[in-house]
Amino acid sequence: MTIKILGLNCSPRTKSNCAALLEHSFAAANAKLGGQIEHEVIHLKDKNILHCLACGVCGKRKDREEYIPCAIKDDMTEILAKMCEADGIVVATPVYFGLPSDLFSKFIMRTRVLRHQDFKLANKPVGVMAIAGRRSGGAETAIMATWLPFIRNGCLIVGNGDQTCQYGTMAWAGPPEHILTDEWGLEQGEQTIRRIFEVASLIKAGKTVVGGTTPMKFSYTAGNRPS
Ligand SMILES: Cc1cc2nc3c(=O)[nH]c(=O)nc-3n(C[C@H](O)[C@H](O)[C@H](O)COP(=O)(O)O)c2cc1C
Repeated sequence: MTIKILGLNCSPRTKSNCAALLEHSFAAANAKLGGQIEHEVIHLKDKNILHCLACGVCGKRKDREEYIPCAIKDDMTEILAKMCEADGIVVATPVYFGLPSDLFSKFIMRTRVLRHQDFKLANKPVGVMAIAGRRSGGAETAIMATWLPFIRNGCLIVGNGDQTCQYGTMAWAGPPEHILTDEWGLEQGEQTIRRIFEVASLIKAGKTVVGGTTPMKFSYTAGNRPS
């Protein structure tokens, strides 16, 4: 079974460690899996992504089941479609002040439209790779902060699988492509991709048995304070 995994590179740099780690990890995982992964990497830095305007337009109509797209016309339209189409998603981010990059934050807020459209990303496995310049520079906190919006989107968070069962990939690198000498980071990268593949395969096979639709329904009122 072919599994489509979408990589999201959240570094603003050319020849970034994130880009190198993603490419290495996909190649290494595919070598072990006999080429069962079809992958694409979106380099967010090359895309025109505007910040969410909080206009409150996107989502679905309150009176009937009709979806309303985001009002902003930029490259997010294409990125959101690719996220929906993928069987799994991997995010690679540099660690900035113990958090994912600001590019990630700007991008992820724009996925709110999918949440409001009855969780279009529901049940999609998501793994995270964080690259820090310093050992103990905040890779774990960056990974966990990256998880949170995906959980709100109904995604399934995965780590790096059974060998060490860490939170994903904690890589250690400074200058451009320095990551290619971080043996442990590279190994965790490959494991994270294989773990996403494993869970995505199970979900894809399960959908053929129980159906492909999600039971998750977005509500404008549940948990909201009446105004
Ligand atoms: C604004 C900024 C903040 C950073 N904050 C941290 C940090 O909190 N901890 C850390 O270990 N490294 C930090 N770094 C270093 C980067 O995480 C590191 O160089 C990483 O390898 C960059 O990945 P990239 O090449 O994919 O962009 C920071 C770098 C920048 C530019």
